Amino acid sequence: VARVLLRDRGAQPRSRFGMTRTERDDALRWCARNPEAVRPEGFSFHLTGYSAVERARAAHALVAECMTARSAGLAHGASVNLGGGLPVRYVAPDDWADFLEQNRPEHYHAHRELDTFYPYGSEHQADDVLRVILEHPDQHGESLRAKAARLGIRLLLEPGRALVDHAGFTVFRVRQVDDRREDGHAVVTVCGSSFSLSEQWFASEYLPEPVLLQPGTATGEFATAVAGSTCLEDDMLTWRTIRFPRPVVPGDHLVYLNTAGYQMDSNESPFHDVALPRKVVLRLDEQPGAARWHLDDVDLVTDTAEDVPA
Ligand SMILES: Cc1ncc(COP(=O)(O)O)c(C=O)c1O
Repeated sequence: VARVLLRDRGAQPRSRFGMTRTERDDALRWCARNPEAVRPEGFSFHLTGYSAVERARAAHALVAECMTARSAGLAHGASVNLGGGLPVRYVAPDDWADFLEQNRPEHYHAHRELDTFYPYGSEHQADDVLRVILEHPDQHGESLRAKAARLGIRLLLEPGRALVDHAGFTVFRVRQVDDRREDGHAVVTVCGSSFSLSEQWFASEYLPEPVLLQPGTATGEFATAVAGSTCLEDDMLTWRTIRFPRPVVPGDHLVYLNTAGYQMDSNESPFHDVALPRKVVLRLDEQPGAARWHLDDVDLVTDTAEDVPA
C-alpha cells in the first residue's frame, strides 16, 4: 500500500503543483474505493515565498480538512506537511535594508539591472518563523500547535535551504584579471562558471561576497566583478562590484560561503567541455582538530581529480 499525503493548491491557486479541492475530493474518493492500493495519510503544501502567516493559515485549513476526511471514514487523515520555505539569514537585517535602499545598476558590471533577490537579510531566523507558524491562532484563538496536539495531527516540515544553512562553500581559482579601470572596476575571471552558482540563472545574484584567500596585508582597495571562463557574455558569478583589500592575481582563490543551499552546480551542462566541479565532503567531527575529507561520489562525471579546475 502506498502511503500518500495529498498536496493542496488552495493557498497558491496559480501554482503548477497540488490539487484543487475538487481534485482532492475525487482523489480521496478513489483512495476510499482502493484501500489496498493507496492510503491517504493527510495533506501537504509547499508555498513559494517566505510568509509565516500564509503557511500558518494553509496549515490550519488542512488540519480542518484532515478532520473532514476522518469524519468521512478516512481514519488515517493524521498528518499535515508544511513544506519548506524557512528562511536562511546570510546577512544582518539592517545591512540588508541598507543594501536594498542603496542598490543601483551603477554598482554592477555593465550596469546590470538586478532587482529580484532572495531575502538575504531575513528579519526572522528559521526557528522564529517556525514558532510564529505554530503559535498562529485560528478564528477561535487556538494556536496551530495546540490544535494539532488536541486533534492528534502530526505536523511535518520539509526545510531545504534552511537545513543546510552554514554548510558548503565553493572555491574558484582565479585564472585571469582584466584591468577595466575605465569601468571603475576590474574583471576577475575564475576557473569555473556561473553554472556553479545557481542564482544567476534565476536572473538574480548570490549577493554574499566571496572571501579572498590569503588576503595578506591590505595594499589598496581592489574593486572587481567576477566572471566565469566560458565565452558567454553573461557568464558572471558576481555582477556587483565587490572590493578586496589588495589586487587579486591569477592563482588566488575566491571562496563563496554557505553555498550548499541551492548554490550548487544544478544548472551545469557539459557544453563547455570542462570537468564539472568535484564535491568534497569535509568531516570535522571525528577527532577535534583532525578534519578529514573525501571526494563525494554524487557526481556523474568520472574525470580524475587532476582534470579538475581547482
Ligand atoms: C515540496 C517541497 N518541499 C520543500 C522544499 C524546500 O524548500 P526550501 O528550500 O524553501 O525550504 C521544496 C523546494 O522547492 C519543495 O518543492
